[in-house]
Amino acid sequence: MQKGAITKYRPFQQINLPDRTWPDKTITTAPIWASVDLRDGNQALAIPMNVDEKIEFFELLVATGFKEIEVGFPSASDTEFRFIRRLVDEKRIPHDVTIQVLVQAREHLIRRTFESLEGISNAIVHLYNSTSPLQRRITFNKSKDEIKKIAVAGTQLIKSLVPTIPATNIRLQYSPESFSDTEVDYALEICEAVIDVWQPTAANKIILNLPATVEVATPNVHADQIEWFCRNLRIRDTAIISLHTHNDRGTGIAATELGLMAGADRVEGTLFGNGERTGNLDIVTVALNLYTQGVDPQLDFSNLEHTRAVYERVTRMTVPERHPYSGDLVFTAFSGSHQDAIKKGMDLREKEAQPDARWQVPYMLIDPEDIGRDYNAIIRINSQSGKGGVAYILSREFGLDLPKAMHPEVGEVINVTADADSRELPAKEVHEIFQREYVNLTTPLELISIEREDFSTTADIRVEAEIRYNGEQMNITGAGNGPISAFVDALQMQGWKDFNLLDYRQHSIGGGSKTEAAAYIQIQHNEGSLVNGCGIDSNIELAGLRALVSAFNRAHKAHPESPQV
Ligand code: KIV
Ligand code: ZN
Repeated sequence: MQKGAITKYRPFQQINLPDRTWPDKTITTAPIWASVDLRDGNQALAIPMNVDEKIEFFELLVATGFKEIEVGFPSASDTEFRFIRRLVDEKRIPHDVTIQVLVQAREHLIRRTFESLEGISNAIVHLYNSTSPLQRRITFNKSKDEIKKIAVAGTQLIKSLVPTIPATNIRLQYSPESFSDTEVDYALEICEAVIDVWQPTAANKIILNLPATVEVATPNVHADQIEWFCRNLRIRDTAIISLHTHNDRGTGIAATELGLMAGADRVEGTLFGNGERTGNLDIVTVALNLYTQGVDPQLDFSNLEHTRAVYERVTRMTVPERHPYSGDLVFTAFSGSHQDAIKKGMDLREKEAQPDARWQVPYMLIDPEDIGRDYNAIIRINSQSGKGGVAYILSREFGLDLPKAMHPEVGEVINVTADADSRELPAKEVHEIFQREYVNLTTPLELISIEREDFSTTADIRVEAEIRYNGEQMNITGAGNGPISAFVDALQMQGWKDFNLLDYRQHSIGGGSKTEAAAYIQIQHNEGSLVNGCGIDSNIELAGLRALVSAFNRAHKAHPESPQV
């Protein structure tokens, strides 16, 4: 790389538009969407789709709601030509879907393109030629006038061929290719020359597609180019202004969104942004960005996993893990503070219990369920995770609603393993560690059985428990106003009570004949530490007692010298 004064590159020239209006606009309706997956996307694949794969992709696009689909470059390859013929012969084109075909402004290619359209009800013939100074000079060695003549001649030929297929309603789309790098006044001049030939009307509009063939500037410059073009176009009401951004600087999506604010009506792009070099515009992201602003995108991505699966299979491309909306990891939080906030948001949502209530979960732009994803992967556990994440996993996947006071201790226990092994812990392992460390512990104290006797004169009860303590089996007895306090009394009578009972909670897990009770007890050891235990049993009283014994055993592990027996 050059250092210091960079002479190899220079900044893109700004557009002179001091009274630009787009920064104050918002997008309130969906644009007309046009998929170019089967053409621009396909031509960027190492192994282009075969006809069957293109058919499957076409059906996916139709099911998603696309009404305009560029199906290929029929004059450029036999596969593309055959694909279009199969769509026609097998009557796969719904009546409300318009097929678009791309063609360069060259006579034999335009004639061949018309042959491919026989029998199609609605078609857009997409004519293009390159217009930027770089392309004019280096690729074509032609003057501005000569380049304009190519576009005009192509339009004239298309116009003359329209009557040859009278059953087909033909619309014209013209793209000054490399518009992003073309002088705006020249791009306008060439588009108006095309318009002069085509003579569009408000009922039969021309589509002027203004491609950022290569993204050469910041997205605000793209918006300025679009606003300038829309404001200076002679016949704005007879033209549909279409955007076609690529992503060379990584801002194709921003450029499209700002281009819509600048007045464009239509957007071309591909699913997940497949396309030449760094890709075409990712329509999924733009559509879902609209959705998350409360605008109906008019495209259905409610089963995005399926959309992605078909896409990945037929294109042999992969969607990266962090890709907006569709990547594997985009609904996953590893960080403790994020997990905490997400858990609070999800808990509140569960309490409200209204699926259409406003989505207000911190760190999550969209409800994963809206696009067919579940909540399971929202929180995953590694060494960055915290108490909230662990509590969320235990609650959501195993029905264990740990009391808040227990979260920090359990979080710490899980974190120690994740940190020591430097790895992610699957939910099952989080559960196993919790079971091993907290649930129904039996050393050194094991509760074997217990009998209770209710006093008829007072509310108190007496318990006789068969236990094993440090390997020695014995019976102990105590009294209290419930089984737990009576058992604590029994421990006291043995001189083993070295704690205070602080908190007791319980809830049921599961339902029907499989219902179990989970109980949680927190004690404070005489040396000050807070210790928790959990008991799970089909009998609610036993669950409580097992929780107490578990807490007692955990305290004993931390303070092995206590109680002195
Ligand atoms: O990127 C581009 O300029 C194109 C044109 C053919 C519209 O794909
Ligand atoms: Zn393109």
